[in-house]
Amino acid sequence: MNVMLLGAPGAGKGTQAAKIIEAYGLPHISTGDILRKAVADQTPLGIEAKRYMDAGELVPDSVVIGLVKERLSQPDTDVGFILDGFPRTVVQADALGEVLVELGKELTAVVSIDVDKQSLIARLTARRTCGACGAIFNVIVRPELLDGVCPTCGGALNQRDDDTVETVTNRLNVYERSTAPLIDYYAEKGVLRHVDGNQDVGDVWTAVDSILKG
Ligand code: AP5
Ligand code: MG
Repeated sequence: MNVMLLGAPGAGKGTQAAKIIEAYGLPHISTGDILRKAVADQTPLGIEAKRYMDAGELVPDSVVIGLVKERLSQPDTDVGFILDGFPRTVVQADALGEVLVELGKELTAVVSIDVDKQSLIARLTARRTCGACGAIFNVIVRPELLDGVCPTCGGALNQRDDDTVETVTNRLNVYERSTAPLIDYYAEKGVLRHVDGNQDVGDVWTAVDSILKG
């Protein structure tokens, strides 16, 4: 099963990817996570990517296309994969199409998680991520986690550097300009499915899973 999660920043792509991993054990290909690891490791890629990410801008297409191409050619993706945060532009979507043809793979479903803009801003500024296990939380839904301790593993909960109000505003503008056109792009290919992401996490998952079950 080859799944793509589309949606604005804060729509719940990472949250739903975790549910898909739990249910189906597919490898998670999140370009944001790959880039954040490179930033943390201070690799040349991370040093280049950081200035774009901190500003809420997209990292150049050539850089992320190269990363995904390499990742998709690894053997663990033979059972399927979850693409999260890629593609983000029509150029990336076209490149992905070519890579999939080369690898003899096809997308099973492109799931668009649709959420109102006001909720996106609230969610992103309320997000906490565990530095140890990667679990994602919303401290509006779970205010007890403002103590900064991960309830899953006891690790420290962090705020992402790009979750400030200023950077979030730009990320949402960049999404509208560069990424939202992919909704029509995949609708025209006949693989797009919509999910109402304004519901609670469990109800969004029920909708996503029913699409995956076909
Ligand atoms: P990336 O990491 O991909 O960030 P993003 O797309 O902005 O999306 P987020 O991770 O912020 O949101 P999400 O949809 O995963 O939501 P989550 O589940 O965490 O990219 C970061 C940066 O990297 C980019 O700005 C760019 O610079 C660069 N980059 C990455 N990919 C790139 C590419 N392909 N090309 C170029 N540059 C690239 O949930 C958010 C919050 O909401 C959490 O608090 C969560 O608990 C909560 N939540 C989730 N679902 C619900 C719900 N149903 N109800 C209530 N709260 C919920
Ligand atoms: Mg994410």
